[in-house]
Amino acid sequence: MERVVSGIRSTGNLHLGNYFGALKNFIKMQDENECFFFIADYHSLTTHPTPENLHGNVRQVLAEYLAAGIDPEKATIYVQSDVPEVAELYLLLNMNAYVGELERTTSFKDKVRKNPNNVNAGLLTYPVLMAADIIMHNATKVPVGKDQEQNLEMARKFARRFNNMYNVEYFNEPEPFNFGESLIKIPGLDGSGKMGKSEGNGIYLIDDPKVLRKKVMKAVTDSGPTEPNSPVTESVQNLFTIMDVVSTPDTLQYFKDKYASCEIRYGDLKKQLAEDIIKVTTPIRERILDIAADTEYLRKVVKLGEDKARESAAKTIKEVREIIGFKPF
Ligand code: TRP
Repeated sequence: MERVVSGIRSTGNLHLGNYFGALKNFIKMQDENECFFFIADYHSLTTHPTPENLHGNVRQVLAEYLAAGIDPEKATIYVQSDVPEVAELYLLLNMNAYVGELERTTSFKDKVRKNPNNVNAGLLTYPVLMAADIIMHNATKVPVGKDQEQNLEMARKFARRFNNMYNVEYFNEPEPFNFGESLIKIPGLDGSGKMGKSEGNGIYLIDDPKVLRKKVMKAVTDSGPTEPNSPVTESVQNLFTIMDVVSTPDTLQYFKDKYASCEIRYGDLKKQLAEDIIKVTTPIRERILDIAADTEYLRKVVKLGEDKARESAAKTIKEVREIIGFKPF
């Protein structure tokens, strides 16, 4: 059994790529491991949200993850800012994090390039806060995508540095959780590449049927096969890939055969795909709306998470304080 920690960005709705990708794995993981999933709202302050947006975003993200299957009885799901111990560990780790190494991280350099007018210290020390999140619960595994690998490497480095500095074997060096083959990649509907928020091609769980139909009908295809059994072009393969996760095997085979015999009508394919997406997302969308409106339930969930996360965090902070030399008289 691993101790798994993962932070969830506090902005942005879940799309099919998230749902069939990382989220399916989170849901599997929570059965077999001790999982801490939290909404990273401290981190979001680097972009200066308004108070209304900050709270609204956290509520929406929480509702979406719960609706999609994160189970607060199995995993510890909490809001980062409910655990102020994180801020203390962040402060302590900052004393041994060097400006030079932080300036060299690719995500920092990217953010400086994109937002030269908002190069705040929180951005610079983002990897330190992330390390605090992770080593607070002595995680053994962290599920990370490509874009977070360097941040995880920093967390390992800060954990090791603390251990060396105080000559202890206190913090574990967390490993990336590798999903390997099981991580399904969902493409976008714009002809090439993956589905993503920044790509602007997302099919969101919260989209209503009308929006979904419109998005699918606009999907990029090709001019149609002209010879029997010609290779499937990328844009059409993308539709088949999505169909593979939302439709029945028979439906997928039907359209693949039609393609092979040059009888395919993309309008029919898209109509079927849209309806099958709607079938998958409708119950989730309804749950999202119910949960987001149920303040009583949300309050219960975050309280449960806060209690469990703070118990683990308080133990770490107490021990770290002693190691550092903050001792009671
Ligand atoms: N940086 C992560 C992201 O942008 C979010 C995050 C914050 C995180 N703290 C974490 C992820 C700790 C894993 C572990 O997606």
